[in-house]
Amino acid sequence: MKIAVIGTGYVGLSTGVVLSEIGHNVVCIDVDEQKIERLQNGISPIYEPGLEPLLTKNIKNGQLVFTSSHKIGLTDSEVIILAVGTPQQNDGSADLSYLIQAAKDLTPHLKNESIVMIKSTVPVGTNDFIKKLIAEHLPHNTSFSMVSNPEFLRQGSAIKDTLHPDRIIIGSTVQKAAVKIEEMYKPLNAPIIHTSIESAEMIKYASNAFLATKISFINEIANLCEVIGANVEDVARGMGLDKRIGEAFLQAGIGYGGSCFPKDTKALLHSANLHGQAFSQLHETIAVNNTQPLLLVKKATQRFTNLKGKKFALLGLSFKPETDDMREAPSIKIANVLVESGSRVIAYDPIATDNAKKVLKDSIEYATSINEAIKDADALFLVTEWNEFKQLDLSTVTELMKQPIIFDGRNCFKEDHIHACESIEYYPVGKKSIIK
Ligand SMILES: NC(=O)c1ccc[n+]([C@@H]2O[C@H](COP(=O)([O-])OP(=O)(O)OC[C@H]3O[C@@H](n4cnc5c(N)ncnc54)[C@H](O)[C@@H]3O)[C@@H](O)[C@H]2O)c1
Repeated sequence: MKIAVIGTGYVGLSTGVVLSEIGHNVVCIDVDEQKIERLQNGISPIYEPGLEPLLTKNIKNGQLVFTSSHKIGLTDSEVIILAVGTPQQNDGSADLSYLIQAAKDLTPHLKNESIVMIKSTVPVGTNDFIKKLIAEHLPHNTSFSMVSNPEFLRQGSAIKDTLHPDRIIIGSTVQKAAVKIEEMYKPLNAPIIHTSIESAEMIKYASNAFLATKISFINEIANLCEVIGANVEDVARGMGLDKRIGEAFLQAGIGYGGSCFPKDTKALLHSANLHGQAFSQLHETIAVNNTQPLLLVKKATQRFTNLKGKKFALLGLSFKPETDDMREAPSIKIANVLVESGSRVIAYDPIATDNAKKVLKDSIEYATSINEAIKDADALFLVTEWNEFKQLDLSTVTELMKQPIIFDGRNCFKEDHIHACESIEYYPVGKKSIIK
């Protein structure tokens, strides 16, 4: 099948690479010419495990092409996938301007009987709106169908998730189009759910809002565990084995970040409010997540009384491991508050430092190794659960730090390891602190 993907970010690039891998002829289009040039040379603009080998392989065998020209990219395309960003606006709603522009750009090149499929996360009604927009500008007797096909991949495992999705949602009112998309995905052998366009759009928001709520819920339980002396990990294990609950997304910590949960929860809340629904539960999910990143700073303030002049090591900058994405990363809030309190922050991340510099600029210092970051530090803040940090040799912490104090926002260390290191003071989330 000849497929065009518009927008080569996390979603568009992963989709394009995987569709080419399963035998389709794919052209990826992006307005960012520098990005396209790098991709043409097989260089991925993002860090995603497993992406580059598939990228280079499919460019080499001619299945995958990159261009910034819609004319070249869309000629003969049977399916056009829209995967541009839909970021958050100030009022919480989704910014559809990239999608609108992409729709306008594709219209003059649309082939008769093609399918325009929106993969970007969009509020209910957007597919319908884009359909009308394209139809208004469509030349002569060209017909097309809309399909809503929301994406569920997770950054850090985008290729694996795209190759092995839990389900594929195909929202369409045109059976022929729905069947064609089912055919396109057939080699993935994944469960397929056919729905209306509106339900498909809602499935994406409802899924993300539910997962975000699960995180905020366990974080609230963790905060309660701390004051009443329970252990959130035991609680989560005990809850998670109940099949009705499930163990995923029950890891207490310092909150969710990234390009999806924060913006999608706000967009759904905005949409609900617009339709006269308060959705107070989602409001609380967001409110809990707004304060949760500051938990470590609160603990540090209780421990030190005054943070001014202290030197703190920040381990982890990206919003989660295996990605260099800094969008809405809890590290940003933590770093900013520590700096505002007059402390010196030295951060280390295995791959997100360059992106972090664009956000945090020179308000903090950047180390090139864990040891450099923790040397002579008054305390260590563990912010992102990279494997490198989980495997940290705690005797090095004791040797290098001024005071071996760990504020662990991701519960990376086992209690017996901490107990084995005599002098370490340890403050995890939702569990008893270890103070000798
Ligand atoms: N990142 C995720 O984990 C994830 C997961 C599921 C769904 N989504 C959704 O998928 C969509 C894309 O997310 P992303 O993270 O891949 O975004 P991204 O910001 O990484 O990439 C968007 C790309 O679109 C390009 N673009 C913008 N306007 C364009 C235009 N008019 N024509 C061609 N290209 C254009 C940009 O240059 C950029 O390369 C969003 O709606 C997001 O909510 C993201």
